[in-house]
Amino acid sequence: MAEEAILGYLATSEEIPDSGQFASQHGFQHNDVVNVIKSLHGFRYIDAQDIKRESWVLTDEGKKYAADGSPEFQLFLAVPQEGSISKDELQKKLEPSVFKIGCSQAGKNKWVDMGKQVSRKVQHVEDKVKDLLVRIQKGEALGKDDINSLKARKLIVAQTWKGYSVKKGPNYAPTRKKVATDLTRENLQRGDWKELEFKEYNFNAKGPPAEAGHLHPLLKASIGHYFYQLHLAYGKYVTVKYMYCFYEYQQSLSWETIIFARIYNLGLPFWHPLACMELTFLNLILYSGETTIEEHISSAGVSFELSHVTLICAFRCFFEEMPTNNFVESSFWNFDALFQPQQHPARDSHDTFFLEVPSTTRELPEDYVKLVKRVHESGGYGSRGYMYDWKREEANKNLLRTHTTAVSTRMLYALAKQPFTPKRYFSIDRVFRNESVDRTHLAEFHQIEGLVCDKGLTLGDLIGVLNDFFSRLGMSKLRFKPAYNPYTEPSMEIFSYHEGLKKWVEIGNSGMFRPEMLLPMGFPEDVRVIAWGLSLERPTMILYGVDNIRDLFGHKVDLSLMKRNPICRLGID
Ligand code: PHE
Repeated sequence: MAEEAILGYLATSEEIPDSGQFASQHGFQHNDVVNVIKSLHGFRYIDAQDIKRESWVLTDEGKKYAADGSPEFQLFLAVPQEGSISKDELQKKLEPSVFKIGCSQAGKNKWVDMGKQVSRKVQHVEDKVKDLLVRIQKGEALGKDDINSLKARKLIVAQTWKGYSVKKGPNYAPTRKKVATDLTRENLQRGDWKELEFKEYNFNAKGPPAEAGHLHPLLKASIGHYFYQLHLAYGKYVTVKYMYCFYEYQQSLSWETIIFARIYNLGLPFWHPLACMELTFLNLILYSGETTIEEHISSAGVSFELSHVTLICAFRCFFEEMPTNNFVESSFWNFDALFQPQQHPARDSHDTFFLEVPSTTRELPEDYVKLVKRVHESGGYGSRGYMYDWKREEANKNLLRTHTTAVSTRMLYALAKQPFTPKRYFSIDRVFRNESVDRTHLAEFHQIEGLVCDKGLTLGDLIGVLNDFFSRLGMSKLRFKPAYNPYTEPSMEIFSYHEGLKKWVEIGNSGMFRPEMLLPMGFPEDVRVIAWGLSLERPTMILYGVDNIRDLFGHKVDLSLMKRNPICRLGID
């Protein structure tokens, strides 16, 4: 309406000199007129010049007097025409502020005699203050003296009024042409696209951030499939894991997709605390300290501002990650190769989930199986063994792996076949135990596993590595307690002092692999392997203050937890 009025007016007149007057003449709100002017100006239908005017508006007090009359006038009316009224009586008739101001102003105006008794001095007065205020309300201009007196009584304040004067612009037309925002199928069929005027693209406009990248804890295992191992510039071996995870695009994610998703601001990822912790551990394990993640990314030829360093994690491998993509394992690799006797309680179905289908493994390395059988039955390499009948059927049984040490074992077996080279391996993945579920236990959880294989390693090296590792996580008070594992000697449980809980908390288990495990694999006698297995959940619960593991992992997880925990690198910065 205002738009038609403005364009219509300009069809016959040169100029609209004042948008304020135009609005009141045509019965529009000035605000509406201003909005239309801005929009028409944007499309150059009109040219608009700013007009600024100082104007006066009533204060709340001013508005009250404009409606009810000034206090002096109200007081004057309350004094009887004849005779007098006592001051106390008069006070009762009026509001306290009206009485107070009224007394002084009516006295000053010589309208009344103020004493203990109050009487009129004149019979007729005019409420000039009210009149002036009403005139200001109507937008009339007042003389300097009047303005000053109202200003002094704080009944008016100055306000800058903004409006426009308007003339035709270069694209002037009496009505606005509608610009098309989309090219539709109908436009093409009708052929009217040839005449259509299209709205220009605004390449600077930001799209709405997509709700994406929330990492569900259960998704983590599947992300394992999208584990990227990339050779970037300089032939560096780089692992990229836990990147932008668009659930529906997982299959097609590529390194470039992820980076471009970031550049085009397709939403910030929110991370599950377990994923944050996993990243943190990855960082600790892999980050060599020689090059930064940013350098890796820029060496890939892509430059962009990396606000969350861990958003896309590129690590130069210091430790190599072990392939942990097999949840199903044979008892042989999970237990026997680790010199774990077949009668060991952990091998009971109360502790381990055995598979019904397929219930047994298809193949095992026969030569090695013979050596393992021998070391269990009669020892060797200076050991007496367990002295029992080792049964192949037990070793064949399939199970859900109870620890990732099964994978370490496979890796060491493969390594022992090569001419000896020192190695560092790690993994972070899921394991399963047939345990009753409570606040701190689940039947499946995640293990961080690590090992260093070299000649001449000692228990001191193991303690040193673990101290270094945990102090980077902000856990610098560690204690080691002698423990027993069938596959390590010596073995140590790792405890960390938790400042918040004010107690020592067990965070992992470690040791040096026994000769009964390493020598049948074929390692030279002087090769030592220090190894550790840590829970991912335990430190996560401690660091995030989660006291029920079911709030962290499993079907009861509150998904908003991930949104509340943006990506982070604990204890590293
Ligand atoms: N496998 C052990 C566990 O599950 C951890 C461990 C790994 C201990 C390596 C020693 C050496 O608790």
